[in-house]
Amino acid sequence: MDKEVIVNARKPEGELGSKLLERMNESHEKLAQWGVSHLTVGIDDVILDVGCGGGVNVKRFNEMVPNGKVYGLDYSEVSAEKSSQLNESAIKDGAVEIIQGSVSKLPFGNDTFNLVTCFETTYFWPNFVEDLKEVNRVLKPKGMIFICNEAVGEEHVFEKMKEEIELLDLKIYSEEELKSALIDAGFTDVVTFRKENTDWISVIASKK
Ligand SMILES: C[S@@+](CC[C@H](N)C(=O)[O-])C[C@H]1O[C@@H](n2cnc3c(N)ncnc32)[C@H](O)[C@@H]1O
Repeated sequence: MDKEVIVNARKPEGELGSKLLERMNESHEKLAQWGVSHLTVGIDDVILDVGCGGGVNVKRFNEMVPNGKVYGLDYSEVSAEKSSQLNESAIKDGAVEIIQGSVSKLPFGNDTFNLVTCFETTYFWPNFVEDLKEVNRVLKPKGMIFICNEAVGEEHVFEKMKEEIELLDLKIYSEEELKSALIDAGFTDVVTFRKENTDWISVIASKK
């Protein structure tokens, strides 16, 4: 992939961003399906997908919560647009809302969501523990955070992804760093999942 395209993944912009988001909807599908297989979702759950990108996970969750509601949030205007296009009819039905905004200042009240999901986005968050505290704030008591990343912070990954890490200033967390950041942000019952022969990691944790 050329550098211009790689850099766009941090905050997709313009035509290039739009194309990249379409590509990510496809290229992240196997990872997302694997990740979601670890989740139990109630049919009336209220879910927020942070860093919703092209909106494919918003669509997936909307199909899983016929009596609930799904919100997608992304600080990129193009991501918010693409997610809105993909979920157009559910938005018209009032089952989905897409909002442009930052994880650092979520435009929601305390205790709003049963589940907040974060696919391939924590690499870019400006202040991981503080941003996790913000997620914690909008979760209902006993609500869950779910993080799903295709890259875990290990030496061979740092080596393999050297160029992307430099270009995008990626923060790739190890299993231990993810666990301790979640605990520091006030979460409990942290469970991690690893897929064999890959660098994929999923983490689920609960608000106290
Ligand atoms: C690599 S894309 C992943 C998109 C989608 N979740 C997926 O799995 O295909 C990362 C997304 O996170 C968004 N993002 C990065 N930092 C963010 C922040 N601080 N607040 C909200 N969204 C953010 C980007 O704009 C981008 O759409």
